[in-house]
Amino acid sequence: MDTWERLKIGTAVTGTALAFLVIHWITDLVFPETYAVKPGYKVADVSELQVDLASLQRSWPAGLSGQGGRANVRDFMSNIEKVSVPRSAETPPAVAAPEPQVDLATLLARADAAKGRQTAQVCTSCHSFDQGQDRIGPSLWGVVGRNVAADKAFTYSSAFAAQTGSWTYQRLDHYLTNPAKAVPGNKMGFAGLRRAEDRANVIAFLRTLSPSPVPLPKVVETSPQSRRSPPGSSG
Ligand code: HEC
Repeated sequence: MDTWERLKIGTAVTGTALAFLVIHWITDLVFPETYAVKPGYKVADVSELQVDLASLQRSWPAGLSGQGGRANVRDFMSNIEKVSVPRSAETPPAVAAPEPQVDLATLLARADAAKGRQTAQVCTSCHSFDQGQDRIGPSLWGVVGRNVAADKAFTYSSAFAAQTGSWTYQRLDHYLTNPAKAVPGNKMGFAGLRRAEDRANVIAFLRTLSPSPVPLPKVVETSPQSRRSPPGSSG
């Protein structure tokens, strides 16, 4: 290969790279990246930070590509703890209202499996409800009453593999309230269901995913009326 040939190849390669860069630049101009102000997804009762993306964008140091842009970014990053995240005015951050304490047995007795199926849609990004269908998470078919981490075809985290016992109603309720806290180090990337009622509905739905559903826990009457001594008894 002589020098002339090398020069030709070199020019061709550089030219192609340049062409790509120019096309990329033009595409960016024609189709600027935009951010939706409202998320396209919205899952009821799953807590998320209410961030007004539009105003976040406006307050983002402008002109990154222009003069002084880097200094702006450096400034912004070094003060990142002090930056207040703008929150949308119309949707106040969800603050968990204090829930009246109703025991799980009562909640499950009142639960609506059909509503639970709706709420459990959030689980389907990772779980299938069909037998033997593992996804990011193990199949939830027959999970109520099943031993914890018992799906042989699924590779559980060591945190989960170390668990013993089975999924009782109580344990499911505890786990689904705050998975990360209930089983530290487990790999279910899900914040949890805040409302006890939602959890009860979801668990009631999970219960149906079995040829022989585990009996619901007995409701123990603890209401003030039932604690009153029966008529006739003194003391
Ligand atoms: C982002 C993905 C994701 C979402 C959403 C999710 N899970 Fe999971 N889930 C996992 C993973 C991964 C595991 C396995 C955890 C491990 O091995 O540490 C798991 C494990 C479980 C287990 C234990 C199963 C067993 O065999 O012991 C239950 C029960 C469960 N999830 C229920 C739910 C329910 C109910 C929902 C919806 C309310 C849900 N998950 C939402 C990923 C998810």
